[in-house]
Amino acid sequence: MQKPILVTGGTGTLGRVVVQQLLDAGRDVRVLSRRPRSTAAGHEWATGDLRTGEGIEAATSGVDAIVHCATTLSSKDVAATQRLIDSARRHGDPHLIYISIVGVDRVPLFYYRAKLEAEERVTSSKLPWTILRTTQFHDLIARTISAQRRSPVIGVLAGVDFQPIDVRDVAERLAELAVGAPAGRVPDMGGPEIRSHDDLARAYLAATGRRRLVLPVRLPGAVVTGYRRGGHLAPEQAVGRVTFSEFLAEQRR
Ligand SMILES: NC(=O)c1ccc[n+]([C@@H]2O[C@H](COP(=O)([O-])OP(=O)(O)OC[C@H]3O[C@@H](n4cnc5c(N)ncnc54)[C@H](OP(=O)(O)O)[C@@H]3O)[C@@H](O)[C@H]2O)c1
Repeated sequence: MQKPILVTGGTGTLGRVVVQQLLDAGRDVRVLSRRPRSTAAGHEWATGDLRTGEGIEAATSGVDAIVHCATTLSSKDVAATQRLIDSARRHGDPHLIYISIVGVDRVPLFYYRAKLEAEERVTSSKLPWTILRTTQFHDLIARTISAQRRSPVIGVLAGVDFQPIDVRDVAERLAELAVGAPAGRVPDMGGPEIRSHDDLARAYLAATGRRRLVLPVRLPGAVVTGYRRGGHLAPEQAVGRVTFSEFLAEQRR
C-alpha cells in the first residue's frame, strides 16, 4: 500500500500547489506547517516546526517521500533541513525531494549560500534524493514591484534580467519527481522568457493599471554583479510554460 507524501511548506506559495497536484494524481498527502490544523479537507496535517524540531518525528513517520518546500528565508534553512533529514533517517529513509534555486553556486547572496549548503546536506544524507533548481517564481518578481506600490517611483535593478517561472510549472515537475524514483540533481527549470527587471516592472504596472516612474538603479556589490552576469538564469532550460504576462492577467481576474 502506498504511504502518504509529506510536503513541508505545504501552506506556502509553491507547496500548496504541490499538495494539490499530488492529490489530483491520487496520492495521499500530509502537510507540515507550524500552524494548527487547517479546516481544508482532503489531506493529513502535521503541526511542527523545523527550527525547533517540535512535531517533526510524527510528521516524517510512515511516508514514502518528502517534498521539502519549507523555508525560513534565512541561513536557518541549513539546520532545518538537517533536522528533517535526521528525522527521516529514523523513519525508513523516504525519498527526499528538495527545491532549490538556479545560481545558488554563482550568486553570493546569503540565502543562496544557505540553499547550497542545504543541498549538500541532502546529497550527503544517505537518503534517496532528488534536487530541482528553478529560477525565480512570478510571485516573487511581482512582489519586488508591488512592495513599492505606495511610492511614486518603482526602483528596479539596472542591467539585471530575470526568467520568472510559474509555480504551477514547478509544482507539476516536483509532483512528478515525488512519485518517481530518486533522480539526483535533475536539469534546472527556467521560465519561458528572460526579461529585464525594468520591463517586468512596466508589465506589472500596465497589468495592474498603475502609473509610476520606473527607475533602474545601478547597485554595487558582488550579489548584484552576480545577477547582472545572469548567474541566476537558465537560458538553455526555458521550459516553463506560463509567461509573466499570462500570470499577471490571471491575477486580475
Ligand atoms: N520564491 C522563489 O522565487 C523561489 C525560486 C526557486 C526556489 N524557491 C524555493 O521554493 C521553496 C518554497 O518557496 P515559497 O516561495 O513557496 O515559500 P513561502 O511561500 O515563503 O512558504 C514558506 C513555507 O515554509 C513553511 N515554514 C516556514 N518556516 C517553517 C518552520 N520553521 N517549520 C516548518 N515550516 C516552516 C511555511 O509554513 P507555515 O507558515 O504554515 O508554518 C510556508 O509553508 C523554498 O525552498 C524556496 O527557496 C523559491
